[in-house]
Amino acid sequence: MQRRNLLDLDELEAGELRGLLDQAQRFGASPPRRDLLRDIIVVNLFFEPSTRTYTSFAIAEHLVGADVIALPPGSSSLGKGETIADTALTLAAMNVRVIVTRHPESGFPYRLAESFEGHVINAGDGCHAHPTQALLDLLTLRTEFGRVEGLRVALVGDILHSRVARSNILGLQALGAEVLLVGPPTLLPASMERGRVKVLRSLDDVLPHVDAVMLLRIQRERIAAAVLPELDDYARNYRMDARRLELLAPHAIVMHPGPYNRGVELTEEVFDFRGWRYAQQVAHGVSARMAVLDYVVNGLPVSPAPPRPESILV
Ligand code: CP
Repeated sequence: MQRRNLLDLDELEAGELRGLLDQAQRFGASPPRRDLLRDIIVVNLFFEPSTRTYTSFAIAEHLVGADVIALPPGSSSLGKGETIADTALTLAAMNVRVIVTRHPESGFPYRLAESFEGHVINAGDGCHAHPTQALLDLLTLRTEFGRVEGLRVALVGDILHSRVARSNILGLQALGAEVLLVGPPTLLPASMERGRVKVLRSLDDVLPHVDAVMLLRIQRERIAAAVLPELDDYARNYRMDARRLELLAPHAIVMHPGPYNRGVELTEEVFDFRGWRYAQQVAHGVSARMAVLDYVVNGLPVSPAPPRPESILV
């Protein structure tokens, strides 16, 4: 099985998704061969700031033996009026095989993929998608619980503007997890409720019943001032703090894709919580991205579906 690009998780069958996670787990347990992407030129084309995604792609590319070029936003001729299609043609003419891209505009990687004859990997586009972040989050859940199937996972906060949330919802649903979305109406419209994805307003009511909580950053840069919530009000209702940690089941974990805002989505007590998994998520970013690079260039075997267990909490 092979796909030319990875633009979002809705392009993948559940078996492919499991295959990617299997491969990422293998790469995490023992480093892959350094020649997996030998003689393959990869360009990292990031038009937005990034610490985790950029660095982990760069490390992943190095570990699979790719030849890596970083093209910072100011260095790309897109800023001089060159079209996306002409940029794609230009890079392909220089034998670039993979473009990893992040852009503030939703849909940018899709338009690039229409013109580029190599592989495009979406490293985050606007409010739309962040498929490799969702993969590393799924990998973190799977490493913790041995499965994603049957887990109950709460995504908390600014779901409306979060590309992390959108890709996670796709991945969690595809693998048979139950998804609870928790937040205020301005950041989480009721219309986001669909099928097994539920919209809830009270974080306190949800916490005792979940296997994992994924806190999300308020995407200030993408929110109109008119709907930006009062931060005190947000913190009172949705910030993870010592009291809320006590509401969680003993096995439950807390995740955050980063960057996190101390005092807004969480308080300092979270960093000492036994189930805080941020560092594991970041570490899984490298193996998940190695698996994606290998997948688009070399392909993968598809993993069979596991039996579907119930949530640990019923
Ligand atoms: N989680 C995430 O995408 O972080 P960066 O913006 O630092 O890449």
